[in-house]
Amino acid sequence: TLRCTLYAALAGAGYVSYQLYRESHPLPQLAQSATFSNGAPRKTLVILGSGWGSISLLKSLDTTLYNVVVVSPRNYFLFTPLLPSTPVGTVELKSIVEPVRSIARRAPGEVHYYEAEALDIDPEQRTVRIQSVNKDQEYTLDLKYDILVDGVGAQPTTFGTPGVYENASFLKEISDAQQIRIKIMGAIEKAASLAPNDPKRQRLLTFVVVGGGPTGVELAAELKDYVDQDLHKWMPELSQEIKVTLAEALPNILNMFDKKLVKYAQDLFRQEKIDLWLNTMVKKVDNTHITAKRGDETIEVPYGVLVWATGNAPREVSKKLMSKIDVQNSRRGLLIDNKLQLVGAPAGSIYAIGDCTFHPGLFPTAQVAHQEGEYLAKAFKKLHQVDMLEWEISQATNDKRTHLQPRLEKLQNEVENFKYNHKGALAYIGKEKAIADVAVGESQYRLAGSFTYLFWKSAYLSMCLSFRNRILVAMDWCKTYFLGRDSSV
Ligand code: FAD
Ligand code: NAI
Repeated sequence: TLRCTLYAALAGAGYVSYQLYRESHPLPQLAQSATFSNGAPRKTLVILGSGWGSISLLKSLDTTLYNVVVVSPRNYFLFTPLLPSTPVGTVELKSIVEPVRSIARRAPGEVHYYEAEALDIDPEQRTVRIQSVNKDQEYTLDLKYDILVDGVGAQPTTFGTPGVYENASFLKEISDAQQIRIKIMGAIEKAASLAPNDPKRQRLLTFVVVGGGPTGVELAAELKDYVDQDLHKWMPELSQEIKVTLAEALPNILNMFDKKLVKYAQDLFRQEKIDLWLNTMVKKVDNTHITAKRGDETIEVPYGVLVWATGNAPREVSKKLMSKIDVQNSRRGLLIDNKLQLVGAPAGSIYAIGDCTFHPGLFPTAQVAHQEGEYLAKAFKKLHQVDMLEWEISQATNDKRTHLQPRLEKLQNEVENFKYNHKGALAYIGKEKAIADVAVGESQYRLAGSFTYLFWKSAYLSMCLSFRNRILVAMDWCKTYFLGRDSSV
């Protein structure tokens, strides 16, 4: 047994070392060029964004087939499923990001990257106007593309609720997580300096999360874990005064989950004394109070920290693009067809993936964006073959042309429609418990509890983009388990 364990440990260490070596030692790349060795032109493929959709595409794409350009204001990929764990320090922010530069450098063909924001897309001229986000080196550029993939994601929505932008934090980006942490720690320290019966102290120690979707639920669960598991050790009296509240406009939270799992999560929240306000629509926010409607009743509640998680809205660049195309008439996102092409744009020129799109049956999740990115990588390989054959035909004699034409039609038909394979949904609900709606083939499995939490952890570890991320996240979990979370900013 000892020998077997030793061999297994050595094999494991060898595998980890090999993966880490491979990730940190990229191979030489094929340089970009205007044409292929046979003289055929090489198309320019511009990818907007460095999120789930765009990075899945980049990772699976054969970048030697196109001149690939990535444009994103964020020079890293963010593993959003673990973002709710970061404001309280269960997982460190650096553990869930992967630089675009290293992802691009590991591709077989050279990839150009602009740390810039797309401002405007011109579907007719096939150009995209970009602006650098680097204030010291500002530039605006019109990039020409043959194919554009729009993966700019979405922005948090407030449904026009007054006072939200001014007073609440969102949970979408790294800066949001940092801001929430600063606010929590600030509120705790300020409250500690006040007398126990001071109403300002009670207000500061009220943390409200608005929106009972998975973002709001996971964040509320993490906040309560932090208070009960860590803060309780260092500030026992104060920690008992902290109230974590989750406000949801509908009769229940986590609407995409099975009813039994929803009940399980709600029961756990109540048992763990997370205030669950159902049927409560927040109507207005100022710097100390939220005003909400519950039935006919209007309630006004003081808060110390407020996080807003009520879903997605299209970004400005997507709205501008929609306004240029008559048939783009959905306010929820860019309309795409079954091959992920932007409806109403010149054929084969613009594709859109992930949260910036709206398509019945495709939800704004990482799972969908990831599969769409992988699908496009395969489709672009096929479309490159089509391009090559078209070029061959354009150079061929009449006889040869007639001979090649049927092959071209066959190849064109080989580009299949995108088919989404729903693998299920997972959510962390606190106290080392999770819920899972897992789809295996035609069957659906509903799981909840501590074992599901282990499943949740292993699923997210396996989904991490790089081996480096996997190791860092696993180390963070061990650190939190054995040493607890840090209570400083
Ligand atoms: P994003 O991943 O948001 O990427 C958009 C990219 O575009 C970013 O790099 C951004 O910087 C860039 N960009 C923005 N504006 C511009 C511009 N003008 N020009 C160029 N680039 C631009 N889904 C799940 O399936 N499972 C989960 O557990 C899960 N957990 C989540 C937790 C949180 C806290 C959040 C917020 C979301 C979570 N999601 C989860 C949803 C998931 O993150 C999104 O569905 C997914 O990120 C969508 O991918 P995307 O590529 O469309 O957009
Ligand atoms: P969401 O759209 O899923 O949920 C938002 C919730 O806020 C809704 O339940 C809505 O009823 C509520 N709401 C809206 N306005 C309100 C108001 N004024 N007052 C009170 N409640 C209000 O949004 P979320 O959680 O940000 O998720 C966005 C997307 O990301 C979803 O598609 C989700 O599936 C995905 N996601 C998935 C995760 C997972 O699978 N674990 C984790 C986080 C996000």
